[in-house]
Amino acid sequence: KHVAVIMGGYSSEYKISLNSGKVVCNTLDHSKYIPYPVHIFEDKWVYVDDNNEEFPIDKNDFSVQYKGSKITFDVVFNAIHGTPGEDGLLQAYFTLIGIPHTSCDYYQAALTMNKRDMLSVLRPFGIKTAISYYLNEGDAINTEEIIKRVGLPCFVKPNRSGSSFGISKPKTTEELLTAIEVAYKEDNEIIIESFLNGTEVSVGVINYKGEIKVLPMTEIVSENDFFDYEAKYLGKSQEITPARIDDTIRIKIEEVASRIYKILNMQGFSRSEFIIVDGEPFLLEMNTVPGLTNESILPQQAKAANIPLADLFDNAIVLALQ
Ligand code: DAL
Ligand code: MG
Repeated sequence: KHVAVIMGGYSSEYKISLNSGKVVCNTLDHSKYIPYPVHIFEDKWVYVDDNNEEFPIDKNDFSVQYKGSKITFDVVFNAIHGTPGEDGLLQAYFTLIGIPHTSCDYYQAALTMNKRDMLSVLRPFGIKTAISYYLNEGDAINTEEIIKRVGLPCFVKPNRSGSSFGISKPKTTEELLTAIEVAYKEDNEIIIESFLNGTEVSVGVINYKGEIKVLPMTEIVSENDFFDYEAKYLGKSQEITPARIDDTIRIKIEEVASRIYKILNMQGFSRSEFIIVDGEPFLLEMNTVPGLTNESILPQQAKAANIPLADLFDNAIVLALQ
């Protein structure tokens, strides 16, 4: 099978995506799949061959003219974090042109990329979340009202972004104003959440051979004030899989995580972040194209579940082709 492994993307996460994509290309079972690295950037969509030569993708059918012949793809392996790979844009495009892809459907992608909307959909189902306050660019910023609602410290986040870009944890009114400015650099919508003081866990849920499977969860111990970019990618954190939590709490979180997967009618990969406060999991967010490098959390969890990475990726392609 010819597999286009798409990577890059238009967001601040493009470098992480290039790493994820490289791992996918190297790990796929080459006796079954021929991977083609395809870089998707705002100014170019190109297949990059072994000699680093670039060949433009025809956006009409996602094919590529390569040395005198036309290559078409049986399936797309999506390794793009953030827009346009994790927010539904490419999912809708591939659905329209009839190429199967490994990620969830466009609606689930758009919904889960939008923290405000996803949390609003899940709250009526009894899923616990932080208290939140929303801002759209141009809205008056009433710090007194914000602090009255969410308290200090709080978390200020771009509503649709990943890898902690643009997130801060202000402790004063002044820091809150700066945090809002910083978050607006990433998105024109902002979500401000109350600080949940507890244990952070990351929970991978996948469709594995047709069953919803919750992977061993990962406990996040950040050396920084929270699990920011540096903690995530520059080694300033400990990621402990399986998490050191009681079985009763673990079972409760597994139940909540798989229920969320079902409520949203999710497909493919998902990795949700929770804070456990007094034995209760509070949902922060969900990633539908989680990092796939060897150091990334979901691959670590698959390993802990005795699922080799090649198997995890093979499973995603088999499901996409069904
Ligand atoms: N957004 C990053 C890539 C993750 O969730 O792993
Ligand atoms: Mg995320």
